[in-house]
Amino acid sequence: MPHLKRMPLVPPYIASLRPYEAGRGIEEVQREYGLTRVSKLASNENPLGPSPAAVEAMRRSMDKLNLYPNGGLDLRRVLAEKFDLKIENVIAGSGSEGIMSNIIRTFLCDEDEVLTTEAAFIGFQVLAKSRGIAYRTVPYRDWHYDLPALARAINERTKIVYLANPNNPTGTFFSKHEFDDFYRQVPERVLIILDEAYFEYAKDNPRYPDSMHYRYDNVITLRTFSKIYGLAGVRIGYGFAHETLIANLLKVKLPFEPSSVAQAAGIAALSDREFLHRSLELNARGLKFFTAALRELGFEVAPSDANFVMLVLRSEDCAAGLTRELLSQGIIVRPLASFGLPNCIRISTGTDEENQHCVEAMSNLRALVS
Ligand SMILES: Cc1ncc(COP(=O)(O)O)c(C=O)c1O
Repeated sequence: MPHLKRMPLVPPYIASLRPYEAGRGIEEVQREYGLTRVSKLASNENPLGPSPAAVEAMRRSMDKLNLYPNGGLDLRRVLAEKFDLKIENVIAGSGSEGIMSNIIRTFLCDEDEVLTTEAAFIGFQVLAKSRGIAYRTVPYRDWHYDLPALARAINERTKIVYLANPNNPTGTFFSKHEFDDFYRQVPERVLIILDEAYFEYAKDNPRYPDSMHYRYDNVITLRTFSKIYGLAGVRIGYGFAHETLIANLLKVKLPFEPSSVAQAAGIAALSDREFLHRSLELNARGLKFFTAALRELGFEVAPSDANFVMLVLRSEDCAAGLTRELLSQGIIVRPLASFGLPNCIRISTGTDEENQHCVEAMSNLRALVS
């Protein structure tokens, strides 16, 4: 029909989107640089590997792979019991990003706006922008979410406010007191996503607001097995919210997500206390070591309560140069240009040896940044 105006096949907001770039893989870097020893400190993964209890449970679940999964029902039941909630308040999905994607598909209409911090977690940025709605941000204040500024920025079109606590990529968190002040200013019609992917690392800090201690009707908490439980490759996460929110998310969720293997892994990991303990100890040591040693070398390091630190460099060139130099010495870190922080890099905590390897390499690269 030649009289009709031709619509582009790809909507402009998709065409202009930069796809999520995963960190570089160990084998790829070994091949490219001819190295045997490579430390991957780029994706906030657990350096101890997966929870052994989860691996065993996945093995056992293999016998039933001919059967369709039950949509996360077993994991929801276990989580409800553990956190003293009703099953109707719990959802399980393919990683917390899987649930985030469902939130975006379930609640956003074309005229709605999403509000968050500048340089928010890249996974959320990509998902929200792919919906073609207005995406608004406010700047960080000292590398923390500026909650008062976010509260002021809410308007009648704001539907979702996204907060990651602790935050990726800065590693900082906001306190219970700060969140309470913020929450009082948020209209009930606005949905707050509280992304607690790094909750386990921060929960023992007395200022950290564990969102399970207060449940609001317009707050959805997201958590994951990808970090402390070492199951990033399995894709399993969960969320807590008011039953009406969960009921609507369940309508949109892929019916057979999460997989039965992922669900079995999640259930087993929850009770693997020994692994959890070892992982927390290693991370606490790594954070302390990186923060002190890198500051000693003269780097600006944001205070972190997660499993990584963020370094602020003088310029984009310094950040790119440091990333390249470290890579050539077998250390993969995360440059943050794609997040929107071109002069910053993020380094995940690794094993004690990997952390040492990284600091040794950095000590030879001081000239690059001072
Ligand atoms: C803040 C934040 N949320 C969510 C995720 C993704 O978690 P999942 O693997 O459960 O999708 C990450 C992973 O890096 C993250 O940093």
